[in-house]
Amino acid sequence: VCWTSAEKAAINCVWQKVDVEKEGPEILSRVMVVYPWTQRYFPSFGNMSSPAAIINNAKVSAHGKKVLFALGEAVSHLDNIKGTFAKLSEFHADILHVDPHNFKLLNQTLVIVLARKLGSAFTMEVQAAWEKFVAVVSAALAKGYQ
Ligand code: HEM
Repeated sequence: VCWTSAEKAAINCVWQKVDVEKEGPEILSRVMVVYPWTQRYFPSFGNMSSPAAIINNAKVSAHGKKVLFALGEAVSHLDNIKGTFAKLSEFHADILHVDPHNFKLLNQTLVIVLARKLGSAFTMEVQAAWEKFVAVVSAALAKGYQ
């Protein structure tokens, strides 16, 4: 993957505004509320019976932070996202058996949460760079399925 300097700047600029502690729980909660079938991958997480239960579920929050923290690793290694996520990809494929289609659901949710957070700063160019970034992350995570 090749990144222009403008893309790199846009991705880093967005990431600096992300609060992992806040947006991590929000993003995973939204995925589980909007696409409820994703809940089945987390049988040990306990009560996910309503949006309020999901938002207040400490395991959902902790895992959301974990996912966003991992995404931050990708931001820090834009030129080697595949290598950065090689182990994580195998884990999602071989151990967790997560259908890679779910990565797209998380990506969409992420873009919506960022758009709301950034408002007018989420320009077309910024969205384009960020969509490319999450597509590259998904491809890297899907690599272990081949
Ligand atoms: C675990 C990252 C998307 C399901 C994890 C872990 C990380 C991670 C860092 C912890 C790995 C460990 O314990 O060593 C990511 C990233 C994603 C992503 C960066 C996309 C950008 C998804 C999606 C699903 C999913 C879309 C399913 C809907 C799981 C499950 C676990 C897990 C079930 C194990 C949870 C547990 O029981 O502790 N993921 N993930 N992941 N992920 Fe993902």
